[in-house]
Amino acid sequence: MTIRTSLENAGKTVLGALGGRKEPAETDILETLEAEHDEVQSLLSKLVDSDNARERHSLVNRIKKALIPHTKAEEKTVYDRVLGLAGKDAKIDGHEGYLEHSLASETLAKLAKMRGPMSPEFSATAKVLRELINHHIGEEERNIWARLRENFSAEDRAQMNREFEAAKKRVKV
Ligand SMILES: [Fe+2]
Ligand SMILES: [Fe+2]
Repeated sequence: MTIRTSLENAGKTVLGALGGRKEPAETDILETLEAEHDEVQSLLSKLVDSDNARERHSLVNRIKKALIPHTKAEEKTVYDRVLGLAGKDAKIDGHEGYLEHSLASETLAKLAKMRGPMSPEFSATAKVLRELINHHIGEEERNIWARLRENFSAEDRAQMNREFEAAKKRVKV
């Protein structure tokens, strides 16, 4: 071991002892999902509350870039595993997630195509998208995460996080 690696390892131990930042490779997928949910929910609230056409337009683009890779990677990494669990209820939860993702992405595509971002139609669609996503995230964090905690170890969930990050990079928005 070189002096440099011993120093780096000592640094990690100190950080670990202080409850500091983990290596990305050890991150639990639930932490990544939570941070991304918070981000998209805050962007959606800004969109609904915004009274500026240009800001609304740019928020739609930011929501698209945050939401689409998240949902596609989540389907491969999380939902396909949940669909593979024993029991009818897990399969229902899995299909429900897929369906809600597709409803959210259809609604977002409608929003992205709409002309006047200050029109009542745009405002209504933005509100529906926020409701859809808030509902979806609520259920996901309760039902799906409970299944992940119950059926997968911390090590499995760190592996899922690595797969999730790699899958997101492959999604074209
Ligand atoms: Fe999610
Ligand atoms: Fe989701």
